[in-house]
Amino acid sequence: MPGMATRYLGLPLVSPVIASAGPTTGKIESLVELADAGVGAVVLPSLFEEEVVAEELSLHEGLEQGTNSYAESIDFFPATDYYDLGIDRHLRLVEQAKKNLSIPVIASVNAAHPGSWSRYATMMAEAGADAIELNVYAMAADPSRSAADVEASYLDIVKAVRDAVGVPLAVKLSPYFSSLPHFAASLVREGVDGLVLFNRFYAPDLDLATLAVEPKLDLSTSRELRLPLRWLGILRPQLPQVSLAATSGVHTAGDVAKALLVGADVACMTSAVLREGPSHIASVLSDLRVWLSNGDYESVDQLRGSVSAANTSDPALFERSNYVKVLSSYAPQG
Ligand SMILES: Cc1cc2nc3c(=O)[nH]c(=O)nc-3n(C[C@H](O)[C@H](O)[C@H](O)COP(=O)(O)O)c2cc1C
Repeated sequence: MPGMATRYLGLPLVSPVIASAGPTTGKIESLVELADAGVGAVVLPSLFEEEVVAEELSLHEGLEQGTNSYAESIDFFPATDYYDLGIDRHLRLVEQAKKNLSIPVIASVNAAHPGSWSRYATMMAEAGADAIELNVYAMAADPSRSAADVEASYLDIVKAVRDAVGVPLAVKLSPYFSSLPHFAASLVREGVDGLVLFNRFYAPDLDLATLAVEPKLDLSTSRELRLPLRWLGILRPQLPQVSLAATSGVHTAGDVAKALLVGADVACMTSAVLREGPSHIASVLSDLRVWLSNGDYESVDQLRGSVSAANTSDPALFERSNYVKVLSSYAPQG
């Protein structure tokens, strides 16, 4: 049987498939199902700063009212502990996950203010998280901020969190950077242990009848994997020491194999698990074993990176010639 064990962020994993953040990783029952199905690690749903602030505000309003009618009620909720109630649910999930699972538990943080990132990351690490994933989900829509400004703000977040926590640190990125290899190398210099490529931006739609902007969440398909595949293949030889995770469009054993072939250490799944349930992981791993055996691979580690841009002397030239080749290969239908 080909060996499935691997490492990610310096942590030992039983398999190279991770359950990425989403509803299935938000409940202890489904986390146990995912672990039983063979995932190597789980990433818990992100703690969003807005969530914490909303809870703090609603608690504050409740307290104000309570104070008017019952002065003694304030004793139950000392003002300095407001935020503890807001993030309590996330911390409890980390603790429960650690208690019930023997695989690494990764906590995800999505803050909005510089100091909050390190504060929440520290709390997650203290609750027992084996690693922290920073889900930096920000739209660069301010015309007065240059690409360098945007990158500098990411690096500031990473620096602050790196100084605050000792556990391994991953950053989940969007694909929209002018020079991703340069920026990725800067993140690694700041002490990031892993890069997760790529976050999906859920662009809203327009309803033509009401002219309302409608939030839309479409689950991914395997077709979306091509963008992460391209960048994983380019970054792998440039950043040989950093862990790389593929996310967006991983649905089948073939998708996992492709991600590993271009150099990912792990492949993450959310949409596929939402569609098929946690047991889907077991069938993906079983198909992956068959694929590896048929190709005479002894382990997932043997497969890793064998089709990365390490075999291409000039990745930019390769991309350009591939672009021309693809356009000229189009055959009109019918
Ligand atoms: C319903 C839903 C909730 C999600 N919640 C989070 C989240 O809390 N934090 C995060 O970093 N990503 C979140 N994601 C993104 C996934 O972790 C994943 O990166 C993305 O869906 C692409 O992977 P996929 O093609 O396997 O779905 C969510 C995705 C879905 C569909």
